[in-house]
Amino acid sequence: MGTDFSRFYDGLDDATVVQTFSDYVNPALSQVLQFIGFSSYEVEAQGSIVRDSSGREFLDCLGGYGTMSLGHSHPKLVAACKAQLDRMAFSSRILFNAPQAMLAKKLAEVTPGALHYSFFCNSGAEAAEAAVKFARITTKRKKLVSAKGAYHGKTIGALSVSGRDKYKTPFGPLVKDVENVEWNSIEDLERAVDADTAALLLEPVQGEGGINVASNEYLQAARRLCDERGALLVFDEVQCGLGRTGKMWGCDWAEVEPDIMLLAKALSGGAIPIGAVVAHPRVWEFWNDAPLIHSSTFGGNPLACIAGLATLEIIEEENLVERAARAGELLMKGLRETQAKFPNLVKEVRGRGLMIGVEFPLEDITSLVLAGLAQRNVLVVPYTFNNPTVTRFEPPLNISDEHIQWAIKAFDEAVAQTAELLEGVDVEAM
Ligand SMILES: Cc1ncc(COP(=O)(O)O)c(C=O)c1O
Repeated sequence: MGTDFSRFYDGLDDATVVQTFSDYVNPALSQVLQFIGFSSYEVEAQGSIVRDSSGREFLDCLGGYGTMSLGHSHPKLVAACKAQLDRMAFSSRILFNAPQAMLAKKLAEVTPGALHYSFFCNSGAEAAEAAVKFARITTKRKKLVSAKGAYHGKTIGALSVSGRDKYKTPFGPLVKDVENVEWNSIEDLERAVDADTAALLLEPVQGEGGINVASNEYLQAARRLCDERGALLVFDEVQCGLGRTGKMWGCDWAEVEPDIMLLAKALSGGAIPIGAVVAHPRVWEFWNDAPLIHSSTFGGNPLACIAGLATLEIIEEENLVERAARAGELLMKGLRETQAKFPNLVKEVRGRGLMIGVEFPLEDITSLVLAGLAQRNVLVVPYTFNNPTVTRFEPPLNISDEHIQWAIKAFDEAVAQTAELLEGVDVEAM
């Protein structure tokens, strides 16, 4: 059979792949994707461009839900991963693992303030799961406070602190002693964070909640209340961290340091799954009694950690944080020009850097605009988990100005097309 494993899918016709996906993966999702207008499969990607089986090129403003910050197939990242694969992909897990140690050291340098130790896992949900455990064991308290609209993942612990009942109710009973507070309400925090609270978990910019930016005062109040009441402050930077908002960390905007920071998605440049919990030394004391009290077989594997080190170096070398700020301004300005032309169809364009949400008055209008964008070969986040009236633009941080103009033009045309379709319809009465 040889070693050319592309034979597993190269040359397959679209219908076979779609049917096989429907038969063996997820028939309902297959229908949704086809309804939006997708019936081909992706074969390769470079920078902001994804190419499908027929050679059609898409502009990727979705980027694995904010994962592809370096763009696809960044040559330096690919080289780093290939070299590590040739040496060893995985670890014996008993000898010391240098890439893991070096990535933890680097994270201690680049994360805010006194954040120091890292625990590595493989996803954002696992990081949230671990943070809940670390907070409880450290404070010896049980209560967890998180925000409405929050998204921390879909494992039971992460789901319990997330904010939408649709995803939670069918799976109960969830973790007990969780309170979901109003987003951005300092008053609600004042009431909910108390002497029983182990942790307050917040995203500095909610991604799945629909790109909701926390006010600086809110994050500062969160810090003050946690200090006063002995709770740990956890910032989930899985989506908004690593430069996406135009600052290295979402919490840098408010100059607030958490006790625990959660990372995943872009940390390994989208090459290898990774998750990390980076924490203040006082959160690490419990490990002294039981160094394996929490663990993950694949967490901290050398391949993911090398990808993490390469990613952090590329972000610095290519000034991607500054680039995200500038590119974000350009994209936001363009999207807002369309909003000004169609204020009854585009409710709001909001966000920071290249974490941009567009809110429509109705879910059906979101779907029509998404279909229009797909016709123009632009991929955006089709569905924001906790707020389906919002679509998101989260392109690579190094997206070119030319590609930004492509996205702006496609959005303008897709909204204009939607307006034509709805001509004579009273949108407010829909
Ligand atoms: C803020 C945030 N936290 C956690 C997660 C969960 O990450 P994962 O899908 O890797 O489990 C996500 C995923 O979108 C996220 O946006």
